[in-house]
Amino acid sequence: MIYSYLPAGQMDRKTKVMIEKYNIPFINSTLVISAWDNELLVGVVRVLSDKMFRSVIYDLVILPAYQNQKIGKELLKRCIEHYPDSEWLVQTTNQISEYYKKNGFKESKDTFLTIACKLFTVK
Ligand SMILES: CC(C)(COP(=O)(O)OP(=O)(O)OC[C@H]1O[C@@H](n2cnc3c(N)ncnc32)[C@H](O)[C@@H]1OP(=O)(O)O)[C@@H](O)C(=O)NCCC(=O)NCCS
Repeated sequence: MIYSYLPAGQMDRKTKVMIEKYNIPFINSTLVISAWDNELLVGVVRVLSDKMFRSVIYDLVILPAYQNQKIGKELLKRCIEHYPDSEWLVQTTNQISEYYKKNGFKESKDTFLTIACKLFTVK
């Protein structure tokens, strides 16, 4: 996922805010699952869920040296196992959407409307 900070003239302030506040989305998530190699954090995913009908995947990231070892797949599987009857959503780029399709997601015909985050946009 590529984040760009807007407006460009305020990039430093916004980058600083994002770094300082980066743990807040994780603290406030319904579920966070991480993968470790001893003391090294090698993968993470977080979920916001009503624990029943709808759950949303955020920030699935695997450390580059650990990619293509099915860690991402396992993290997604463990998320879905928590709320197996729920609808699962993910917002991602065209480039990554194929990855989610390999893991059981289907492109939705629904229209998603957004109000952009003031701290970043997702391209
Ligand atoms: C995308 C990402 C999470 C995948 O995790 P991973 O642990 O490396 O992937 P897995 O080992 O579970 O799966 C590997 C398989 O997915 C495929 N794959 C990996 N990235 C892909 C992509 N962007 N599109 C299609 N397939 C992809 C691999 O080719 C491999 O296929 P195979 O099983 O047929 O050999 C990881 O590459 C990553 O962290 N990328 C950067 C952050 C990112 O874009 N996160 C998504 C945010 S929505």
